[in-house]
Amino acid sequence: MKYLSLLFLCGCLGIKLVDHKYEDVFIVIQKTVGEDPTLIQKIKETFTLASKLLFTATNNRVYFGKISIIIPKEWTTVTNTTSIPSIQLKNYIMIDEGKIKNPFVKSTECGKEGIFLYLPPSFLMEKSDTAYGRKEKVIVHEWGQLRWGLFSEYHPSPDKKFYLDEGRWKPTVCTDQIQGQIGKGPVCLSAKVCDPTRSSVTMSEMCSFCPHLQQTANASIMGYQYIPSVNFFCDKDDPSVPAWQRHNKKAPTKQNLLCNGKSAWEVMREHSDFRTGSTLPEQTKTEPIFEVLQETSPIRVFVLDTSGSMSTDDRIGNLHRAGAYIINRVLEENSWLGVVCFTDHARITADMTHIISDSEKKNLVASLPTSADGGTCIGCGIHRAIEMLKTMPRKTAENAEIILMSDGEDQNNQMLTDASREAIESKVVIHTVSISQQADPRMISLARDTGGKHYTYLDKGDISFSAIFSQVITISATDMTSKPETVLFKSVDEQSFNINFNVTLETGMNTTISVLTKLRNSVNLTLEITGQSVMRYQSFYGTSLTYQIPETFKAGQYQVIVTSSRVTSWEYTVSSLQSGSNQIMTTTRLSKTTMDFTNAGRDMPVVYADVTKGFAPVTNVEVVAFVEGTDNVLCNITLRDNGQEPDIAVDDGTYSAFILPSCMASKRLNLRVEVFGREGQAGVQKKLTGAIAIEEPEVEYEVLKESFQRFSIPEPLFVKNLPADLDLPPGRITDLSVVDIKTRKSQNGESRNFTIAWTATGNDMNVGQATSYDIRIAEDIDTIMYNFTMAEKFSLNNDTFVPKPSGTPEAIRISVNADESYTGTAFLGIVAVDKNNNTGQVSNVVSILVAKGFRIEVEEVKNYTIGMFNNTVEDETDIVDEHVSSSAFNTALTNSIVLISACVHACVHFGKM
Ligand SMILES: *[C@@H]1O[C@H](CO)[C@@H](O)[C@H](O)[C@H]1NC(C)=O
Ligand SMILES: *[C@@H]1O[C@H](CO)[C@@H](O)[C@H](O)[C@H]1NC(C)=O
Ligand SMILES: *[C@@H]1O[C@H](CO)[C@@H](O)[C@H](O)[C@H]1NC(C)=O
Ligand SMILES: *[C@@H]1O[C@H](CO)[C@@H](O)[C@H](O)[C@H]1NC(C)=O
Ligand SMILES: *[C@@H]1O[C@H](CO)[C@@H](O)[C@H](O)[C@H]1NC(C)=O
Ligand SMILES: *[C@@H]1O[C@H](CO)[C@@H](O)[C@H](O)[C@H]1NC(C)=O
Ligand SMILES: *[C@@H]1O[C@H](CO)[C@@H](O)[C@H](O)[C@H]1NC(C)=O
Repeated sequence: MKYLSLLFLCGCLGIKLVDHKYEDVFIVIQKTVGEDPTLIQKIKETFTLASKLLFTATNNRVYFGKISIIIPKEWTTVTNTTSIPSIQLKNYIMIDEGKIKNPFVKSTECGKEGIFLYLPPSFLMEKSDTAYGRKEKVIVHEWGQLRWGLFSEYHPSPDKKFYLDEGRWKPTVCTDQIQGQIGKGPVCLSAKVCDPTRSSVTMSEMCSFCPHLQQTANASIMGYQYIPSVNFFCDKDDPSVPAWQRHNKKAPTKQNLLCNGKSAWEVMREHSDFRTGSTLPEQTKTEPIFEVLQETSPIRVFVLDTSGSMSTDDRIGNLHRAGAYIINRVLEENSWLGVVCFTDHARITADMTHIISDSEKKNLVASLPTSADGGTCIGCGIHRAIEMLKTMPRKTAENAEIILMSDGEDQNNQMLTDASREAIESKVVIHTVSISQQADPRMISLARDTGGKHYTYLDKGDISFSAIFSQVITISATDMTSKPETVLFKSVDEQSFNINFNVTLETGMNTTISVLTKLRNSVNLTLEITGQSVMRYQSFYGTSLTYQIPETFKAGQYQVIVTSSRVTSWEYTVSSLQSGSNQIMTTTRLSKTTMDFTNAGRDMPVVYADVTKGFAPVTNVEVVAFVEGTDNVLCNITLRDNGQEPDIAVDDGTYSAFILPSCMASKRLNLRVEVFGREGQAGVQKKLTGAIAIEEPEVEYEVLKESFQRFSIPEPLFVKNLPADLDLPPGRITDLSVVDIKTRKSQNGESRNFTIAWTATGNDMNVGQATSYDIRIAEDIDTIMYNFTMAEKFSLNNDTFVPKPSGTPEAIRISVNADESYTGTAFLGIVAVDKNNNTGQVSNVVSILVAKGFRIEVEEVKNYTIGMFNNTVEDETDIVDEHVSSSAFNTALTNSIVLISACVHACVHFGKM
């Protein structure tokens, strides 16, 4: 069978580059922002300036062509707008009034598009310069991250503000041309403790680098964009590039860590935006065209398969009950819905209906199918739906959504091909749900090609049909926090069962419980609250019941006890809705939806869960993904927000984990992600790193007083060509750092001990326990980064230094002895190795100081714990030049020492300065 994908242009609404101009750039103003027409003016001013800067910063290559500003339904005073139904955007700019007050981008990977750029209205409303410098610089900085997958080029955390090079501490910046002052605190007061030449101890975290505002450095926008003279991106460190633009791959920036030492331009040149390399004349007019769109209600058509196979396992009954649940509980008031049913031909069972009261809902539910018979012509259904949309309500299908559900193989290939083309041409979005594994594979490409989502419902498993159905109901673009969140769902086969959940003060009465059952049945439902004598009792005869916690109910632990007259299939959902930016939301996604082992290399799929309150990250949450195959739960995976691979940044509210082949024993996998935030432990962080501020504010953290729970489902993962015996290599270590330096005068010269710490990775990516470490050193950073096996190896004794289980802190102590002053630099990297000698990728690189003709010894620091070397020098009087090693340190060491005298030849070039 031929696949449709790539035949046509994708109809999805994401940023595109057309003829050097960015089109389909959407700026969505959230409902949380108070109505303010001047905000629109400010957006226009800012993005007009940003367009010009984008053009010059990219050497006259790209700029903003058309920008669409979407305003909320509720805004009334902005005129000259065009209406647009609620749409699903792919990558966009969001303006939100929430807890976060600084611009940031939700990133994915180096070189890949981010998810969205967040701007608070206060930033745009600022009269001239902001705390982050000129607004257009900040926009171009964030654009680099959103569009090209660049990362920031300042220090990612306080312990990475400086690094050792050429005998001193250097600030973490992209080019060495940036002038500034080093000192204590955020404004760099001069302080002895911050002397960068004091390489005999680690630099205190109190010390900062404050670039001068008046200077001539031109790069990098990804670093200190607030310096007025900085207007360009860094390029490769090569004589062909002017010195002011040369990338500094030694600095411990996020860009270097995640893009493997590449400069901004090296990443950009690989992006399709810059493939042609052609430039425009300097005088090109770069003013973007703006349009203001006002969001209106979503317009949807259910296109439902009623072919014979839908009677198997009561799929048609499931569809009917879940459809009724969606119509009654999930669809918004004021939205539009039509229903088309198809077999080998299609018919409309409900015309486009504007849902304004319960009576429309009732009629729509009555139009859902109850019986199934005949063949399958998916194309017939799609064609009929588009026809209907073209008459009602807007006379166009553009931006309307078709929700297609089918369980069978399509029998009219030509009709489906034609309908796909028609859908793409009319810009309708098709979301597809395959009911069972047998569904036509073209269901997937249909969704991909039209910018829709695809889900699969597996007859077996814990994931309920209504939970899957809810996933394809798009959230309002301007009101993303107002969708009810799923607290709990499950499908069970029982006569009676309990549902346990908490009702919190914040969610209160906006908690509903829906119970659906297969057979018409006599059911008793009892609601109890632990510790309180309140009990509600309800009985019904039928197949579904939805119950809303009444206003008079109290916060507490609830239990619903369901008893019925017979064993049957059930599914239930508990959902809750909080007001606006107080809503705790979970969205889940996969780094890819197909894992084909024939060409995937080492790139295992990653599952991400964003847990936020409004858009502020919620940290210290337990997140577990249960991977369901066709027949059973295959495994569970813990997602972490700790900055270790594959996680991009610590405490940003995005939890992530690899999905490993051991969980892939099925061709289609569904993931059920469960999120649990414990009271007194989970908290909301009110800052996320974006463009750096002239004076970085303190991060505020609010501990949550109530526990919460959320369930979410990402799109399914398709597995192809899974090999029988695949041994994955160990993961990459990403947090190598120098945690301590001790210096002592020796008989002939000096002796320095560097303690280098990291977090252990596993034997299969970051799972398990590696067998050994390959630790190497080189005078040249390129050798360590790109030619690791050519670097000098430390012969650590494997018997005494066994890597610890993944996630455990590890450390080595390197003692360097020399007769001369320490002015050279040596770079160090680590690779984890498994029992089959598979090697992981080279870790991030750290530098230490060495001297000409140094002798070096390496040993494990046993029982290393984080914070063991607390180097925060609180007072200048604490500084003693010759540190004497502490007793705790001495007892922690072993005797596995190897002398590397061979290094002498490698060190001859050291000692400039
Ligand atoms: C209204 O929009 C149209 C087209 O988008 C534009 O040509 C016209 O100038 C706008 N009018 C005002 C008053 O902004
Ligand atoms: C429901 O409760 C009523 C009253 O207690 C009882 O008579 C009936 O048997 C119960 N039905 C089921 C299915 O448990
Ligand atoms: C309940 O939901 C409504 C919107 O449906 C919202 O206005 C209200 O604030 C919510 N109540 C609470 C306690 O969050
Ligand atoms: C996850 O799987 C492990 C076995 O691999 C099991 O011991 C553990 O109980 C599971 N966790 C949950 C929450 O089901
Ligand atoms: C419910 O609340 C209790 C008491 O506050 C807490 O211990 C429990 O973890 C909570 N459970 C959930 C699922 O939120
Ligand atoms: C470095 O460590 C070694 C081995 O524990 C110890 O003998 C030496 O005194 C230490 N040197 C310094 C400068 O602390
Ligand atoms: C790696 O080492 C080889 C042999 O010394 C050399 O030819 C090559 O240029 C090096 N590659 C890089 C990226 O440094």
